[in-house]
Amino acid sequence: MPTHEEIDWSAPEVAAHYDELPLWSAPFGLMLLDRVPLRRGQTVVDVGAGTGFLTVELAQRCGPESRIVAVDPWEASMDRLASKVAFLGLTNVELVVAPADALDLPDASVDVVVSNLGVNNFDDPATVLGECARVLRPGGRLVTTTNLVGHMEQLYAAYRDVLTELGLAEHQGALEAQELHRSTVESATEQLRRAGLTVVDVARDSFRMRFADGRALLRHWFVRLAFVRGWRAVVPSRDADRVLGALEEHLDALASRRGALELTVPMACLTAERR
Ligand SMILES: C[S@@+](CC[C@H](N)C(=O)[O-])C[C@H]1O[C@@H](n2cnc3c(N)ncnc32)[C@H](O)[C@@H]1O
Repeated sequence: MPTHEEIDWSAPEVAAHYDELPLWSAPFGLMLLDRVPLRRGQTVVDVGAGTGFLTVELAQRCGPESRIVAVDPWEASMDRLASKVAFLGLTNVELVVAPADALDLPDASVDVVVSNLGVNNFDDPATVLGECARVLRPGGRLVTTTNLVGHMEQLYAAYRDVLTELGLAEHQGALEAQELHRSTVESATEQLRRAGLTVVDVARDSFRMRFADGRALLRHWFVRLAFVRGWRAVVPSRDADRVLGALEEHLDALASRRGALELTVPMACLTAERR
């Protein structure tokens, strides 16, 4: 574990590690870090760690006596996390490259489970939450964040208009299913309850993602990575280019009326306890 020595800003590896997290993950991560229990010596599991900004943060914020286990099946992201852990000289991080559907940890052995934008993205959230409940000790807490129904509602409203205009109204149901696939506080609370956990705190907030127009939005690298595939999948692939083109025009028009394209992202941070 590193000491309190100063760090050399001019070192190339310092700049390489300066941008440590996806901007998309940041507002959710801040909500979570504001609420997560922080105690020396605790065992924490980061479920769906991704490239691991939260793992790295908790390893440092809880101190070297703590143990942080990062779990994610995405190999390339865990390689990236391994390089951060090595660079930072952290000795209290373990990486598990696997889905969290079966955790190789004893019952009641964990103080805190965290999941930033994790559980809502898993194929089988019920199984993962069941595992989280199993490994938490009585009194242990799970702290999780998610975006909520209402996510980018301005875009979905424009998409509905596009489907009507292009005579593709039969796909409104698929669009709605995608919107409703996000959690509500009630559905997330129920999911945690079914896993045997009791929700003890719910925090809500929202932020805006702003773009010059639809053209800028649909060419943005992270938007393409995280969202465009889903938007294309609402309609058959033969119609996807036409629909996304029309969506771009609608969003351009909205941006020119409003001065910029602003998409709202409602979010929640739920804390649940193993009783
Ligand atoms: C939206 S990313 C969030 C990553 C990170 N927590 C963050 O906030 O930047 C969701 C992550 O969940 C991981 N994931 C998907 N299914 C999983 C599972 N069954 N168990 C654990 N992680 C899973 C993905 O590989 C991905 O890294």
